[in-house]
Amino acid sequence: MSRVTINDKTFETSIPEAEILKRIKEVAERINRDMAGKNPLLLAVLNGSFIFAADLMRNLTIPCEISFVKLASYQGTTSTGTIKEVIGLNEDIRNREIIIVEDIVDTGRTIERMLDTLGTHCPAGLHVCTLLLKPDKLTVPLNIEYAAMEIPNDFIVGYGLDYNQQGRNLKDIYTLVKE
Ligand code: IMP
Ligand code: MG
Repeated sequence: MSRVTINDKTFETSIPEAEILKRIKEVAERINRDMAGKNPLLLAVLNGSFIFAADLMRNLTIPCEISFVKLASYQGTTSTGTIKEVIGLNEDIRNREIIIVEDIVDTGRTIERMLDTLGTHCPAGLHVCTLLLKPDKLTVPLNIEYAAMEIPNDFIVGYGLDYNQQGRNLKDIYTLVKE
């Protein structure tokens, strides 16, 4: 176990790089089987998924494409608070098999927003592939077809995921140490 300190918080290794890569290979093999001949378009949600998207795609052996989108938050004028809008979608996704690539699904609201928005563009199919899923935190009913790993409700960093924008460069995944 190794420890790192980011700003005011201490984190401890919880998923070593080798384990992460093994799980990604397994999920990629499922996609290779399910999406053979369908030329899926991976839509990776920035920033957190950039490392996962690269390793996932390197394990896909079927024809496939990738593009990157971002969710921009802006303050709504209504009481609903923050509204998130999908930006950067330049491809025509009509009649295509789309795989949304996420770093982590927590409450599920981000993915719900992505599915709602992309759904209006009439894709052939909309699938979700996430590196991590916190099943106990999910507050909206979602079908997460491809989850490389499930984790408890703890806050994590590393392998693309950040704490205050720091820690994305850590090779392993680290969990917040509760004081
Ligand atoms: P959701 O909308 O609640 O599912 O949150 C998903 C987003 O919150 C992810 O794409 C991450 O950017 C961020 N997030 C959720 N949990 C964690 C965590 O444990 N560490 C770092 N980022 C997280
Ligand atoms: Mg994210």
